[in-house]
Amino acid sequence: MAKQTIGILGAGKLGLALANIGAQSGYEVLIASRKPAEQLALPVSILAPGAKPLSAEEMIAETDIIVLAIPLSKYQELPPIALKGKIIIDAMNYWWEVDGKDKVFSTIDATSSERVQAYFSDSQVVKAFNHMGYHDIQAVSSYSIDTERKAIAVAGDQPEAVEKVARIIEDFGFTPLVIGPLANGIMLEPGSPLFGANETASKLQQLMDDFADSDKGHDFFAQRVNQ
Ligand SMILES: NC(=O)c1ccc[n+]([C@@H]2O[C@H](COP(=O)([O-])OP(=O)(O)OC[C@H]3O[C@@H](n4cnc5c(N)ncnc54)[C@H](OP(=O)(O)O)[C@@H]3O)[C@@H](O)[C@H]2O)c1
Repeated sequence: MAKQTIGILGAGKLGLALANIGAQSGYEVLIASRKPAEQLALPVSILAPGAKPLSAEEMIAETDIIVLAIPLSKYQELPPIALKGKIIIDAMNYWWEVDGKDKVFSTIDATSSERVQAYFSDSQVVKAFNHMGYHDIQAVSSYSIDTERKAIAVAGDQPEAVEKVARIIEDFGFTPLVIGPLANGIMLEPGSPLFGANETASKLQQLMDDFADSDKGHDFFAQRVNQ
């Protein structure tokens, strides 16, 4: 059977961790950043053996499912037309403690992924791989067969695209936890107890339910969650 191809834009901590487990899971992984492919060859060969470094343009042209593993402040450097018709897995976070405050992303009239979807209006944006740290993602490759799978939450507005991404999450060694529409992705962002979670699906669901029930959740997040 032909290998399924997945593209990863961003060859930093998260991008390389995903490329590594993707390649180990039998996917054809194409990875790119702003650097020329030749400069990525060495780090990719060490940290994500089996993944193929390409230029961003080549990678985008060669796959229909692309993970954005770049800083949130950079997605508008990509021309939406280049990603038309593709599924975008939005792994980006508005993480002000690391990236600095941003007026647009500080307002909660739309979540970061809803803004990404509005920008890439002819693509299908699915939010996933946001809440778990790259080192925990990477650790899946050392799980034994008896290790209980950890969950990755996934949110999106197009059920078929969510289903495809859930399948990838499963193939990568995690349990997908579908949490509803893209707007529910607010539950995965910094400030939520789910951010940083490396938990089983039932525990992750419990964290979500508890937070939605809490005063803090009510005040900030729960109002954005479409139950
Ligand atoms: N680190 C984590 O544990 C983690 C977990 C979940 C989600 N995330 C999210 O994932 C994203 C990446 O985080 P990270 O920690 O992996 O960051 P990082 O280590 O700083 O890597 C960022 C990567 O993005 C690339 N990049 C930046 N602008 C680009 C552009 N316009 N086009 C193509 N590539 C571009 C950089 O490439 P150059 O070197 O060529 O500039 C670099 O390879 C962030 O949004 C973060 O919130 C991170």
